[in-house]
Parts: sequence; C-alpha cells; structure tokens
Amino acid sequence: MKQRRLVSEQFGGSAQAYLSSSVHANGTDLQRLTELTRNLACQQALDLGCGAGHSSFAMAKAGAAVTAYDLSPQMLSLVEHEAAQRGLTNITTQLGGAEHLPFAEASFDLVATRFSAHHWSNVPAALGEIRRVLKSTGTLVVIDVIAAENPLFDTLLQTVEVLGDPSHIRDYRVSEWRAMLQASGFAVSENNNWTLPIEFASWTAIKRTSDLRVEAIRDVFAKVSDEVRQYFKLQADNSFDLDITWLQAKPTV
Ligand SMILES: C[S@@+](CC[C@H](N)C(=O)[O-])C[C@H]1O[C@@H](n2cnc3c(N)ncnc32)[C@H](O)[C@@H]1O
Repeated sequence: MKQRRLVSEQFGGSAQAYLSSSVHANGTDLQRLTELTRNLACQQALDLGCGAGHSSFAMAKAGAAVTAYDLSPQMLSLVEHEAAQRGLTNITTQLGGAEHLPFAEASFDLVATRFSAHHWSNVPAALGEIRRVLKSTGTLVVIDVIAAENPLFDTLLQTVEVLGDPSHIRDYRVSEWRAMLQASGFAVSENNNWTLPIEFASWTAIKRTSDLRVEAIRDVFAKVSDEVRQYFKLQADNSFDLDITWLQAKPTV
C-alpha cells in the first residue's frame, strides 16, 4: 500500500473520534491561533492536514476565509458538516497532500499545520510548497509533537509512535525543524514548547492500535530505563507526556 493511502485509511476510519478527542479539540494553542489570525487581520488562511478541523475553526472564528486541506475525504466531509453546525460559512475544503499544493503563488496570509507534519512523506517539499503559496508578508505556524535532542528519548518516542499508528513517519526535533525551515526560506520568529499528557487507553483507541501492537508498546515501556521513565513521566497505566512545539516563521525573502 502507498504511504498516502495508509495515511488516508488510518485517519479516515477515525474522523469522528478526532472531532471529539480532547487532545485535539482543546488546547491554548487553538486560542493562540485565533488571536494570531485576528492580530494579523488575516484574510486567507490554509490549514494543512486539517483533520477534524480544529485549527480551521480557530482561524475561521477570527474572520479569515479558511481552506481546510487534508488527504482524507472523510475528514473533509466532517469539517464541512461541523462548520455548518457551528455557523462558520467561511471554510472551504480541498483534498490533497501537503507535498503538492493546488494553489496559486502567494494565495495565503497564514498557513497553519497542527499535529499533522509527523505524517508527511517529505517535509522539505511541503515547506517549499508552503513558501510558494504564502505571501511574502505571510506567516507560517507549525504545531506538532517533537522529539528530544537526546537520541535515547528520540528513539523511544518514534518506536512507540509507529507501533501506535503505522502511518507515523517522524516527530522532528526542534533543531531539525529550524534547519528545514531555514533551508526553505523561513526565519523563525517565535518558538515555545510544552508537554501534553497522554492517556494511554484513549491514545490507542483513537489510533485503533491493534491488541498485538498495544502489547508491544506495553513491553517496550516495561523495559525502559529510569531516565526514559522520568523523561516521559511514564505512569503505571502506560500514560505518558508528549512534547509539543509552536514554531512561528516568516519568509526571509
Ligand atoms: C492528527 S490528525 C489531525 C490534526 C488536526 N490538524 C487537529 O489539530 O486536530 C492528522 C491529519 O493529517 C492528515 N495528513 C497526514 N499526512 C498528510 C499529508 N501528507 N498531507 C495532507 N494531510 C495529511 C491526516 O489525514 C489527518 O487528518
């Protein structure tokens, strides 16, 4: 199966669950996105890997015309339905991958992506496309799970992520994000990180992780060192903390 289909099937089967998931539906980062959209007086915004549409709703609330973009048709149908329920008439949807954007140059004032880029097959290609469709005065916001700079924690994270969800590719380190952004013509203007507590049973439920893979994760967690246990604040029920970043950047030229 092609990676693109793997991603689409992984998420398409859980669209409704992503709409109600508290990890995805809540977060001060969504309020911050609404404030940023308002402060920038943003007219046109693009939500890349919109999923159930939480970032799209956050930007649309501030008055921007939002294009919600995703590989999964089920997610886009859900966004259309939910936008109508919320009375948000300024959201349109478009199917596609982040690596090839079907939009004209300089179409958007703001491009945001939240909890999606770790599934992208080619982040540098996607950043090149984002740079092309973003106005030279525009803003990019990347919100995503990040890996620690320490290889021990990095390897453990990617192992657990790919066992939890076979479409996982990589949670990048902030240093990797900074290097990719710089190479694609972006300068980071704001960056902060926080931790997100993950309840293990809900995390595997939304990902529809098979029993075999849940057992594999339990086994991985059972054998980690004290350092790993402390870093991820690993609990008896296998709940753990994820590191999240907000990277805000502007085109350099
Ligand atoms: C965790 S979900 C949605 C997150 C959503 N942005 C939120 O904040 O709740 C990740 C989404 O990214 C989409 N996605 C993954 N890889 C993609 C790609 N290469 N291009 C576009 N969308 C992609 C998936 O289809 C999925 O809907």
